[in-house]
Amino acid sequence: MQLLQAMNERRSIRGFKPDPIAKETLADILQTAGRSPSYTNTQPWEVTVVTGERRQALSDVLYKLAQAGEPGKADVPVPTVWSEATALRSKTHNINRFAALGVAREDTAQRNHLRLENFRFFGAPCVMFVWMDEALGPWSNMDVGGFLHGLSLTAMGHGLGTCLQASLANYPDAIRECLDLPASKKLLVGLSMGVPNLEAPLNAYRSARMPIEEFVTWYE
Ligand SMILES: Cc1cc2nc3c(=O)[nH]c(=O)nc-3n(C[C@H](O)[C@H](O)[C@H](O)COP(=O)(O)O)c2cc1C
Repeated sequence: MQLLQAMNERRSIRGFKPDPIAKETLADILQTAGRSPSYTNTQPWEVTVVTGERRQALSDVLYKLAQAGEPGKADVPVPTVWSEATALRSKTHNINRFAALGVAREDTAQRNHLRLENFRFFGAPCVMFVWMDEALGPWSNMDVGGFLHGLSLTAMGHGLGTCLQASLANYPDAIRECLDLPASKKLLVGLSMGVPNLEAPLNAYRSARMPIEEFVTWYE
């Protein structure tokens, strides 16, 4: 796949085929994504890859917590305050996504069902969690952001789709316990990866983007 094509066609995948991904393929993807730039080449990202029985066990734990309405406590909490422009984009995204799925605003049961799909990893055979050591500050988040995009694009190069999931980062304590990780590892985000099921209704929606006039200022 060509680079520009991948950049333009990448989208969050929320429905996967169960086909397992070979460990060598996952290792290859991670090694390539590791070529992402970072401040003074610090490469602050740490990744846990969960497949097979461990994936199912973890999904069961997280699904139960989310279904019970457990509030969760992310290591890096999602902000509650947004600028006017970003809040509007977020609202528009949610309206359009549910409209594309034919889910009404007041249909809380269906909305909740869709939310919970996050914790089944949308059927993906592989889930990854991206961590940073507690010694690192917000500065290194920039590097991890670049790594995550690199990871998504590299996966595409192998015919795989991804969905970044802040929802999974809501329960870092449960994940640390399941994976036997120390409290010093701080969870930034989860990520489902697998062969996209393009027939899945959740994959029907394609998000929009603002035109460059809205975010670029030229000085000539
Ligand atoms: C940090 C981050 C967290 C996200 N968390 C979730 C999530 O929990 N569940 C989900 O379905 N999508 C999640 N997304 C996907 C975004 O909704 C998606 O990237 C955005 O709407 C743009 O759509 P696109 O990725 O299809 O282009 C997340 C994306 C990012 C970058």
